[in-house]
Amino acid sequence: MFPSLLILGRQPALGLAELERLFGSSAIQPVNGLAALLDRPPDQVPFTRLGGSIKLAKVLTQLDTIHWPELVDYLTATLPEHLNYFPAGKLKFGLSAVGFTVTAARVNASALQIKKIIKQAGRSVRIIPNNEAALNSAQVLRNQLTGELGMELVLVRNGRQTILAQTVQEQDIDAYAARDHGRPHRDAKVGMLPPKLAQIIVNLAQPSPESTLLDPFCGTGVILQEALLMGYAVKGSDIDPRMVDYTRQNLVWLLMNSPLHGGLEVEIGDATKTSWIGFDVIATETYLGRPFSAFPAAEVLQQVMQDVDTIHKKFLQNIAQQTNHDFHMCLAVPAWKTPHGFKHLKTLDNLEELGYTRLKFVHARNEDLIYHREGQVVARELVVLQRK
Ligand SMILES: C[S@@+](CC[C@H](N)C(=O)[O-])C[C@H]1O[C@@H](n2cnc3c(N)ncnc32)[C@H](O)[C@@H]1O
Repeated sequence: MFPSLLILGRQPALGLAELERLFGSSAIQPVNGLAALLDRPPDQVPFTRLGGSIKLAKVLTQLDTIHWPELVDYLTATLPEHLNYFPAGKLKFGLSAVGFTVTAARVNASALQIKKIIKQAGRSVRIIPNNEAALNSAQVLRNQLTGELGMELVLVRNGRQTILAQTVQEQDIDAYAARDHGRPHRDAKVGMLPPKLAQIIVNLAQPSPESTLLDPFCGTGVILQEALLMGYAVKGSDIDPRMVDYTRQNLVWLLMNSPLHGGLEVEIGDATKTSWIGFDVIATETYLGRPFSAFPAAEVLQQVMQDVDTIHKKFLQNIAQQTNHDFHMCLAVPAWKTPHGFKHLKTLDNLEELGYTRLKFVHARNEDLIYHREGQVVARELVVLQRK
């Protein structure tokens, strides 16, 4: 049994692709489309750099049942002996169910049963009440369930079996919010790339430890920010001098707030023409075209798609001239949501001719690697390319 369990984010395919790229396809086993087992112990998982996982848990056991009362019986029978490992003081306990049809009320009732058992064992305990079948990140963090007096047990359905795991790290929603909202410049027009998605893009590009990462459409610099925090040296450019200015100011702010060592260069440049010196990998959210708040008329969309496509084609030609076989990059490119599904960038059909192979994943389908929120017209399709 693999020792770590990761609970995946809102779009699990993105998290699976990220894990596969970082650890290799045989190191992970998807669980129920919502989680993944990983072949290394939790203390060897670089959890804070994972944008696609929300929780890291230590696998305790796998049980041969998915019947909720039997699972609760198991917990009440086995928990008391584990209580000796906690230091003195009031415990905090939470229970989460993932992939089951149980209601929050049912989970709460089970947690109260467990509370009784803990009290009978002579320990005082506070139960964190569930609003949903699984506790959310804010509840886990605010109640310090990963702290020395805390415990969140997670039951994850895995086919006809159930994985029992204990949370050891939860995504740091406060740190993400501080990075996202605290930086001096944001710009709704170029789009707000969430730091978590920027982390996924960087991880999919698979930079090796000493790499310099280039973002040739850097906008306000979110990808550069996340890459710096992961310890890479970064280079960025953008055709718009205002954006270059924003990126510089945002990264100066970042460096004032965190001691980082990676080198950093930002310049004005047209990604279809610029020659960059000394970069190892590209991770970028490219030009997405005009933002739309409602489905545009077909002719309008066609025109936008054509304009955006030309920039992408020229950009890929430009990069092909500057890179060698095996060069890797991850691009977040636009895909347009229509009432009949997504429309994709045309250039994606001609990647081979342009000198690239689009990588495939064992555990995620490329068509699921589209980051999209309800109501958005312009989504981001994640494309991982290798130079032929
Ligand atoms: C979607 S935004 C990237 C936003 C960025 N990820 C961020 O963190 O803010 C795309 C950027 O591409 C830039 N751009 C458009 N055409 C370009 C070109 N030909 N060369 C370089 N940058 C370009 C725009 O100015 C814009 O800042």
